[in-house]
Amino acid sequence: MRTMKFISAAFALLLGVTSCQQKQENPEAVIEQKVDALLSQMTLEEKLGQMNQISSYGNIDDMIALIKKGEIGSILNEVDPARINALQRAAVQESRLGIPLLIARDVIHGYKTIFPIPLGQAASFDPQVAEDGARVAAIEASSVGIRWTFAPMIDIARDPRWGRIAEGCGEDTYLTTVMGAAMVKGYQGDSLNDPTSIAACPKHFVGYGATEGGRDYNSTFIPERRLRNVYLPPFEAAAKAGAATFMTSFNDNDGVPSTGNTFILRDVLRGEWGFDGIVVTDWASAAEMMNHGFAADEKEVAQKAVNAGVDMEMVSYTFVKKLPELIKEGKVQEATIDNAVRNILRIKFRLGLFEQPYVDENKNVMYAPAHLEAARRAAVESAILLKNEEQTLPLGKAVKTVAIIGPMADAPYEQMGTWVFDGEKSHTVTPLAAIREQFGDKVQILYEPGLGYSRDRNTGGIAKAVSAASRADAVLVFVGEEAILSGEAHCLADLNLQGAQSELIEAIARAGKPLITVVMAGRPLTIGKEVELSDAVLYMFHPGTMGGPAVADLLWGKAVPSGKTPVTFPKMVGQIPVYYAHNNTGRPATKKETLLDDIQIEAGQTSLGCTSFYMDAGFDPLFPFGYGLSYTTFAYSNIKLSATDLKKDDVLTITFDLENTGSYEGTEVAQLYVQDKVGSVTRPVKELKRFARITLKPGEKKNVSFELPISELAFWNIDMQHTVEAGDFNLWVAPDSQSGTPITFKVTD
Ligand code: BGC
Repeated sequence: MRTMKFISAAFALLLGVTSCQQKQENPEAVIEQKVDALLSQMTLEEKLGQMNQISSYGNIDDMIALIKKGEIGSILNEVDPARINALQRAAVQESRLGIPLLIARDVIHGYKTIFPIPLGQAASFDPQVAEDGARVAAIEASSVGIRWTFAPMIDIARDPRWGRIAEGCGEDTYLTTVMGAAMVKGYQGDSLNDPTSIAACPKHFVGYGATEGGRDYNSTFIPERRLRNVYLPPFEAAAKAGAATFMTSFNDNDGVPSTGNTFILRDVLRGEWGFDGIVVTDWASAAEMMNHGFAADEKEVAQKAVNAGVDMEMVSYTFVKKLPELIKEGKVQEATIDNAVRNILRIKFRLGLFEQPYVDENKNVMYAPAHLEAARRAAVESAILLKNEEQTLPLGKAVKTVAIIGPMADAPYEQMGTWVFDGEKSHTVTPLAAIREQFGDKVQILYEPGLGYSRDRNTGGIAKAVSAASRADAVLVFVGEEAILSGEAHCLADLNLQGAQSELIEAIARAGKPLITVVMAGRPLTIGKEVELSDAVLYMFHPGTMGGPAVADLLWGKAVPSGKTPVTFPKMVGQIPVYYAHNNTGRPATKKETLLDDIQIEAGQTSLGCTSFYMDAGFDPLFPFGYGLSYTTFAYSNIKLSATDLKKDDVLTITFDLENTGSYEGTEVAQLYVQDKVGSVTRPVKELKRFARITLKPGEKKNVSFELPISELAFWNIDMQHTVEAGDFNLWVAPDSQSGTPITFKVTD
């Protein structure tokens, strides 16, 4: 006991002396010295303890006993500030070296104040929304002692069957890159050292979203060129934005599970990008390498993971159990362990945990008015107007009675969406509650849910809903998915509306009243039929705590929709994968192909045109990427390029006029797409390169400009070099990925 105290005191002295002497020095250099000083005192067991992450369990005394022995470096899933302080006290005051714990939690789209699911945030095409959401989450989570979140999830997802599409920013590399970096900034604030900052953890590294068949945890087969062109850029940007940690993914890509993948963890992440933070496994993904058939036993698991570049193991304990033996046998070098521990200690120092390990247990920042306001704004911006025939929306004064129908109209838990552990439904404002509160004195509200929940097949309530619809001037039907239908392991093979929701809409449509369908879901659904039946469709994804007030604002025109689809909406599941930035085939669809119903009996074998399409679904999706309407209209004109013959180090300036040609003030997300027409390898038919949200009053016209350094047209080419290839390019400035006329420019060497 006395020795322990002496060592701690000596270490404290050392820290003090070092910091006095180096007052003038670069703080990073000071941290490195502190890390080395601490490391030099650690036993192998203490080092392995730092590499061990456990999930909190009921009996705090058991955890405290392990912490005192230095056997735990990080704990996830503990949220009680008093317990967190007690655990930290054990680490800081009672373990030999006093190293604080890193307390982690999945704070994905809010801690208490729940923002729209990340896919919804991506629909805003507004990095400020992403940054604010992460900042609010960080302020609330850090107030209880959580200093590490496992977010942002920046897996490119092109298959809406995959339940985890909800957690990311959709199908596009550039959009995900911008939004992911903004989230990192929001979580980590200006400095990790600020007590309201929490370490971000871009995940899942890498390729997890390309899971075969959209079935979670499944294998991926992404060749290196595609990996580098499509899947890696958001992670590289997150690393550049200073993300403190990275998480490996569950998938094996071309046979190599990420948790044992030296190429991505050592060569790319550390070697090419210079990442010096923590690499943590996903939940038991180390031990799961045995299920993959990539490691025979726990010993091989630990060997492969640590040698591949993993620093911390989440909950499968093979490191603590097997590394001592592996080191003795020379299969893992002690230097490898030292580096892993350095990475962990470095982040603990950067977070200021040594100086400020405890939280104020009485502080309450949850659901602060500014947080709720930011969540409401995010939900407004996340909403996508998919259809609005004859300006059904916004609802005007003529609407004196509204029928509110559907299982999502008053489902406070469900509208928060997936990955909500801490947000409480008692704080959620539903559409029904918000409409009653905001408009209850102006319009008569007839509420008849029709169905109890999204999967409800009991059609007994539909007749009452139809009766309410027939007595109303307008019908609002809220459908979608319960929260549990998306997220981890929650994949679907059928993306039609669940339960009897479609039947409900069909029955209500027969009432012949203006029908407005609002969808709250974790993914794009195949709602072609329901779109046909509706006069207007507003797609909200799961909008979070303030979804109700946001939708009320939008329906009555206090706010105007501005969201755009962050992922292509398929007509039917069989079209998947369907994404806009695909390569061209040798026989591209003409979109005039003959479809099933038009094919004659005994038609000639070549009569269909021999192009790339489905006879039953055609080529086009239900809604393309980047699509979304407004209550007003916008006109693009006068698109000009600063030059049409450019060198590789030039910057191209694109200017255009955007005019609000309708009668509401509104915001347009203008998008810039580019196509490299001929390459040493085939290139996507278009790729998003810039976007901007532009707000205009009715009749207002603005000249807008985008700056595009030609270097951003670089890609990994036939020689696996990241380079711009000279040649001709097409460029579009457009309201979505399917509109606009191309303008050409040339890049020469
Ligand atoms: C998920 C991760 C998550 C982790 C910790 C895993 O099952 O894949 O995204 O961060 O659990 O909760």
